[in-house]
Amino acid sequence: MHRTVQIFDTTLRDGEQTPGVSFTADDKLILAHQLDKLGVDIIEAGFPISSKGEKDAVKKITGARLDSQICGLARVTNVDIEACLDCDVDVIHTFVPTSDVQIKHTIGKSREEVMQLSVEAVEYIKAHGTKCLFSAMDATRTDMKYLLDVYQSVEKAGADIINVPDTVGVMIPSLMYQFIKDIRGIVNAPIDVHCHNDFGLGVANTLAAVEAGAQQVQVTVNSLGERAGNADLAETVMSLHSIYKVRTNVQTKHLVETSRLVERLSGIRVPPNMPIVGDNVFSHESGIHTHGILIRTDTFEPGVMTPEMVGHRRRIVVGKHAGKHAVKQMLTDAGLKPTEGQLAEIMQRIKDLGDKGKRVTDADLYTIAEVIMGEVAKGEQAIVLEEVSVMTGNKVTPTASIKAVVRGKPKIGAQTGVGPVDAALRAVQTILGRDAKIKLRDFRIEAITGGSDALAEVIIGVEDEKGNIVTARSAREDIVIASVEALVSAINGLMLRKR
Ligand code: KIV
Ligand code: ZN
Repeated sequence: MHRTVQIFDTTLRDGEQTPGVSFTADDKLILAHQLDKLGVDIIEAGFPISSKGEKDAVKKITGARLDSQICGLARVTNVDIEACLDCDVDVIHTFVPTSDVQIKHTIGKSREEVMQLSVEAVEYIKAHGTKCLFSAMDATRTDMKYLLDVYQSVEKAGADIINVPDTVGVMIPSLMYQFIKDIRGIVNAPIDVHCHNDFGLGVANTLAAVEAGAQQVQVTVNSLGERAGNADLAETVMSLHSIYKVRTNVQTKHLVETSRLVERLSGIRVPPNMPIVGDNVFSHESGIHTHGILIRTDTFEPGVMTPEMVGHRRRIVVGKHAGKHAVKQMLTDAGLKPTEGQLAEIMQRIKDLGDKGKRVTDADLYTIAEVIMGEVAKGEQAIVLEEVSVMTGNKVTPTASIKAVVRGKPKIGAQTGVGPVDAALRAVQTILGRDAKIKLRDFRIEAITGGSDALAEVIIGVEDEKGNIVTARSAREDIVIASVEALVSAINGLMLRKR
């Protein structure tokens, strides 16, 4: 297949319908700029009739004059359509349910009434000279003859794009292929698909639709969306580019940064094993794999997709399954050159930790190596923590101060934050001087024991400006102290790598 498929991103509309997610107008604008930089063809910015804030957000986005076309959602009513027109969108996406179950139980109308409303809505949009995308909601559970009648009628009324939503994600790829073929048999307008992920088949169904001739696909970043979400943007685009050899206008090198931005603003964590953008996608731990990767990366990676293509980084990770070659490489990268005997001892310690069920962080590896090799005494570490104090309460802004020796010089830093941990971590960053560009990448707290005096384990990952990541841990009853210790230890690990 050598053709270009249009990418319609609905992160700001269906993605925002993810339970627990709501973006401010400013968040939406930031995200719209990022989606534009990513190169999506259409950004569905929101549902303007739903609230004043939503309408203002859509207006802000259309006002930004991005290269991507901006779309607004509307039911098949004039007030909804007018709200979109007020926002000056490029495309109006009008939708109505067509399956009997939804027509009867959600809007209480007959098939004939739905048909008439659909045609009138499309005519109204076209009378205003705006591009019209029509969705038959729950299309995949709609009586086929009726669905084809609706699509033919709205096309005749002027619809520019016909969307086929698999609203509750019940399709399977082989059926989706035939479904789209059948619709293409009677509709000339470009076909778009919108697949939900209730059975985890959103991307597979989207790709099957493209195989059957769909020219546009609706996707979200990080698979956000109602219930189990929508077909994922990164998975769909990379499958099209790397496997199907179908082009899109997406600049794939921005996929990971886009996913991280959406993760931060939505508050929905990306699992480490999420395809394309997850932390583990180009991380290798087991001995056989890391050995292969160190010789030739396509031994245990797809080859047709490299970390550079998606803005990711390849990482060798230590752990129970780690091999000698990988551990040696990691230590060499940190400037440590163990003898064969020392390496064997380091390996043994790592495996012992793994057998006890411990996740081995990078800082654990460096500490083990330093102890075995006798290389670095504690006093030579870049940061030696001396004091941490925190003030917090319901009437005071959480404030933390840190006393430490940084590269041999005494330093004191203080900061406020949204909570005591945030304040303490910010205070550490104030004493870093020329290393202030170090960013917090990962922060996890787990209670190891129960009760209010529980031992809390904190695992922190930090990243320097070159994208090097080092992880470290600490465990204490006091989560503030554990957090600061883990952060300092991770920064020390990063400095060790730099040296
Ligand atoms: O899932 C769905 O059917 C929708 C429509 C508005 C297209 O989100
Ligand atoms: Zn949807």
